[in-house]
Amino acid sequence: MDVSHNDAGAAVRSDDLGSGIAIPPAKLAHIVFRSPRFAEMVDWYKLVFCAEPAFENEFLAFLSYDDEHHRIAVVNAPMVADAPEGVSGVHHIAFTYNSLSDLLQTYQRLKTQGIMPIVGVNHGPTTSIFYADPDGNQLEFQIENFDTVEESAAYFSSPAFGINPVGVDFDPDDLLSRLLAGESEKVLKERPDIGPRTLESYPVR
Ligand SMILES: [Fe+2]
Repeated sequence: MDVSHNDAGAAVRSDDLGSGIAIPPAKLAHIVFRSPRFAEMVDWYKLVFCAEPAFENEFLAFLSYDDEHHRIAVVNAPMVADAPEGVSGVHHIAFTYNSLSDLLQTYQRLKTQGIMPIVGVNHGPTTSIFYADPDGNQLEFQIENFDTVEESAAYFSSPAFGINPVGVDFDPDDLLSRLLAGESEKVLKERPDIGPRTLESYPVR
């Protein structure tokens, strides 16, 4: 019998074929943008993600920054119009860093390159800094605020998250100076209590 494994370690046996068993995808593989400003987008993603091209020519770029052969790709599409605001679609794509210091060091590095965030939000389960790429696609750079998925799940079920599932805005420079002054990451990741909050005060492009 053939046995293969997906990334979650679940064995998929060939004799399951035809059984009707439901198999979710093993992982999210990559994101592809079609862009009317190809060169600018490729340069931006290389800089921001510390990415290297797995393949690149004048109309395609496959970029890699981790164990995937390409995580982000850009298609040169000078004929397409910019996406207008107020239409349905993807709101943002989120990427996780390993620590608050990694996240804030990235914030600082991008700031020196003139790349500034849209907003910093402590959602509760995550501390997140949002950016927009040259086409206006929104990206979230986040860290997990809790050490285990069980703690995160408990926070999602808490009264605090129930009245404010959006989060609490923060100034990354303030967080960075407090981290440099010696405050612990654990304390800096705690979400303050600001009472109820709805999407009305949240940037939804
Ligand atoms: Fe998110």
